[in-house]
Amino acid sequence: MYIQLVSMHGLIRGQNIEMGRDADTGGQVRYVIELAKNLAEQPGVTQVDLFTRRLKDKRVTADYSQTFEELGPNCRIVRLPCGGGRYVRKEKLWSFLDEFIDQMISFTRRQEKPPTVVHGHYADAGYVAAEVASVFDVPFVFTGHSLGKPKLEYLESVGWTLEEANQELNIEKRIQVEQDCLSVADLVITSTRHERDDQYKNYHKDESLRFEIIPPGLDLARFFPYYEYELAPHTVDERFKQARMRMVHELRRFFFNPDKPLILSLCRPDRRKNIQALIKTYGESKELQSIANLAVFAGIRSNIEEMSDNEKEVLTDILMMLDRYDLYGKMAIPKQHDSEFDVPELYRLTASGRGVFVNSAFIELFGLTFIEASATGLPFIGTNDGGPKDIIENCECGIILDVTDQEAMTKAMLSTLTNHDQWNTMSANGINRVREHYSWDTHCKEYLKALSEVVETYEPAPSTGVSARSLGNRLENVKYMLITDIDNTLLGDDDALTNLLDLIHRERGRIAFGVASGRSLNLILEVLEKYNIHEIDVIISSVGSEIYYGRDCQPDKGWGSRLRHKWYPNRIRDALANLPYLSLQTGPGSQREFKVSYNLDDHVTPSEVMSEIHTHLDKTRSAYSLIHSHGSFVDILPHRASKGKAIRYLSQKWHLPLSNIAASGDSGNDYDMLTGQTSGIVVGNYDKELESLRENGQRCYFAKANYAAGILEGLKYYGMI
Ligand code: GLC
Ligand code: MG
Repeated sequence: MYIQLVSMHGLIRGQNIEMGRDADTGGQVRYVIELAKNLAEQPGVTQVDLFTRRLKDKRVTADYSQTFEELGPNCRIVRLPCGGGRYVRKEKLWSFLDEFIDQMISFTRRQEKPPTVVHGHYADAGYVAAEVASVFDVPFVFTGHSLGKPKLEYLESVGWTLEEANQELNIEKRIQVEQDCLSVADLVITSTRHERDDQYKNYHKDESLRFEIIPPGLDLARFFPYYEYELAPHTVDERFKQARMRMVHELRRFFFNPDKPLILSLCRPDRRKNIQALIKTYGESKELQSIANLAVFAGIRSNIEEMSDNEKEVLTDILMMLDRYDLYGKMAIPKQHDSEFDVPELYRLTASGRGVFVNSAFIELFGLTFIEASATGLPFIGTNDGGPKDIIENCECGIILDVTDQEAMTKAMLSTLTNHDQWNTMSANGINRVREHYSWDTHCKEYLKALSEVVETYEPAPSTGVSARSLGNRLENVKYMLITDIDNTLLGDDDALTNLLDLIHRERGRIAFGVASGRSLNLILEVLEKYNIHEIDVIISSVGSEIYYGRDCQPDKGWGSRLRHKWYPNRIRDALANLPYLSLQTGPGSQREFKVSYNLDDHVTPSEVMSEIHTHLDKTRSAYSLIHSHGSFVDILPHRASKGKAIRYLSQKWHLPLSNIAASGDSGNDYDMLTGQTSGIVVGNYDKELESLRENGQRCYFAKANYAAGILEGLKYYGMI
């Protein structure tokens, strides 16, 4: 199996993950890296690639700009260009993803073999993975990690408007993409039952959609039991020992009586983590204060002033509460800790002193910190909403409760800290049962089992089929591609058309087939319907401003995203509004997102007015291309669009040499598919706009026969048939 994992946002590297540095670099980042490493060690897995953005940004270290980072044998991070390399938060990534898709497709095509499966993590990577899987016609696996709908519900409950949520977080875009992922996924993986039954509740999904609950594994080598220090200290890596000393020293700075048991809390400074509730509970219980110290590790900070508003507010609140309840000498709020060594040591340190781990977040989708703490032998207290239910069921290593119930919180903390039998049982349960239920080995075995079943039952589109899903594999095997104009080239002679279609059918294994037309997609589909043309791989419509694959017309999103650059259609319409010889075309589909089209007055000579049109267009400061055909149509497109450019893009994207692509046409808007390296075919009935192609040196064949017969003549000329 060659497994492709995709995870787009945050800072992803194999060593010293910058956990908690920002909202995008958290549990998911660690999860995908561990997943990649552990999967690569399983029998039957030949290669695991974890794809993410390549960053070129002075604000982050140079590690993130390396294309490849080895994570182990047969396992690497692959970083591909996406949106210029500036490190932006995940909500701002959407418009760059199409570029990433193209990069990933090209990269994948250069690998020895296609992926067995493409697995996207979170909506952004789901969007990418779904597209890549579809191109190579392999199963698409989706893990949401967290979902937009419940998030929006929560935001609205705390007073956000939908507009704000869109403005700040692009939330509807995210929800839409999640919905799309669910409609195409072959397998959805969740960590908990709660996630499957609750989080996904309000999404539309097919009865047959397969969900697998596979809790993530834990790096057990890091979360070894706390008693190793007493029973086998020589086995402990020096780096952990050093981390422990660092943490002991750090905490000492805060406490009058450092030998008391610790109530440990560890999370990002985020409102939803509800840290305030813990401080309030502690602050209002003299009993708790007398038996234990409180340590709140709320992310990493150097300067609160420079943090985001949400984080700043939470941290300021924490400081004010410390003051209000006068917790000086009893409460620590350390500034720094790393996730690699310090965090496991904090759990162990707390466990050695018979303390407790408390996380008062309202909801934990999974509860990774609970599992980490439990693995070291530290009992926990946390919410009964979400994933922790599964943890308690599996391991019985803590107490879950309603975190808004302050009395219950106080009681749970007191009993854990004072009832030693209870503490001992929970501690031992955590150490033993986490190893049973939450090891990476268990995770990978279940993951691969589900995957093999999905791969086995997966039905690729038939190789002669027309679905876009098969395109990736199809284009790998064909030798040539024919792209033809429709009006007056493909159409015009019905008998010749029948001959051509027969040929296309017979040669399907060798020659891919597509059309390129000034018509809009709908008008092209009408023609295809009318002439019974079903075997089609590529549709280039609206004079090359849109590209679709297969008879089910999957749009090439990468193409659209390229065209947006400096395209201002309103300015263009304004600029040309007063030219008396131009009238906007009004037919169905004549105006498109990337196409502004006019009819030219019969009485003017195109060559005489073109320069005036250019002059007006240049004032718009947009990058456009101006194309005229049949002496009577004027199309204005983004500068990166035209039939010819679309063909070059396809050639690049699908690694098909331009000379192996035959392009046939009859008029002006076909011009640039016929020049350059393509195997151009001008049909006998051509328009004089193409006359200049006869000039020396052009690789362009002028057929004697008209229409489709001319195309056949050209294909023979180039030796393609
Ligand atoms: C087709 C389109 C029209 C365009 C013309 C030339 O007729 O419908 O909008 O102007 O081709 O490209
Ligand atoms: Mg034509």
